[in-house]
Amino acid sequence: MIVTTAELYKLAYGKYAIGAYNINNAEQTMGLFRGCIQSKAPFIIQISKGARKYTDKRMLEAIIRSASEIFPEAIFAVHLDHGDEEACIDCINSGFYSSVMIDASHETFEQNVAITKRVVDLAHKKGISVEAELGQLGGVEEDIQVDEGHACLTNPEEAVEFVRLTGCDSLAAAIGTSHGAYKFKGHQSLRFDVIEAIQKRIHGTPIVMHGSSSVPKSEVERINAAGGKLDPSACGVDENEYLPAAKLGVTKINIDTDGRLVWTRVHREFFRDKPTEFDFRPPGTIFQTEYANFIAAKNQKLGSAGKLEEIRAALKK
Ligand code: G3H
Ligand code: 13P
Ligand code: ZN
Repeated sequence: MIVTTAELYKLAYGKYAIGAYNINNAEQTMGLFRGCIQSKAPFIIQISKGARKYTDKRMLEAIIRSASEIFPEAIFAVHLDHGDEEACIDCINSGFYSSVMIDASHETFEQNVAITKRVVDLAHKKGISVEAELGQLGGVEEDIQVDEGHACLTNPEEAVEFVRLTGCDSLAAAIGTSHGAYKFKGHQSLRFDVIEAIQKRIHGTPIVMHGSSSVPKSEVERINAAGGKLDPSACGVDENEYLPAAKLGVTKINIDTDGRLVWTRVHREFFRDKPTEFDFRPPGTIFQTEYANFIAAKNQKLGSAGKLEEIRAALKK
């Protein structure tokens, strides 16, 4: 059942985080639904501009509708990840999305406010909520690359102004993470001081954490043992920090890279061990199971596992 992102936020805020998982194809979607049913968790499916191009937005929509029929007990929202104004308008008008993200964080504060406000005005007329970003994460997203030197944490004072001026429903904040597989060096971690300062000032507005993959060492090692050449210094967010962050208002936690690592490990190991194989379905089948297990384990760390029936009951009221 597709629900609004706002409903999920209301029930989870300050208690646990909802996993927001990027999908690009049918195998990933099947694994995602299976993993969330397995762990009895609500979830957010997110679709990037790149995914909408790769598997055609109409195909992705059809895949999600079908998955919802195959798994009628699933409760989830559908979200546009890192949209520009054009993509947001398209998704708002499609009637399929629960929420959109307008990412104008690379613009000046004033331009970010103006663009975000235009999207908010349009989205709210149709009952769709809007995530907006302030501050800049490092790493690569779509065709924009931000090097570490230009990444800047969200200023809590600006965050209040930004939320007030735009009317956005949730705030993607730069709190120490970056996109991709190379987030931290040494023992860095989330900037809980910044999260706390932001929450204090915009209390009640869900904070969104991008770049939340944990990039498990074991996954990187298995990929490299099967012919990959990932930099062994790859490092992500400590999964044990998800829940403490959630208690401070981080209500949506975005995970994409970790799922890509699962895909890469499964396929590299499969073709290493079966070099004469050329049917894509056997590794695809293994991937769906592995991806489901990965999602179920993530939901445990996010605190969303086991919340499905509670959410269902609350939605019926
Ligand atoms: O933050 C970006 C997400 O990981 C989506 O990646 O734009 O390559 O689909 P993508
Ligand atoms: P990761 O690259 O850490 O998985 O982050 C994904 C993300 O933020 C999607 O918006
Ligand atoms: Zn992101």
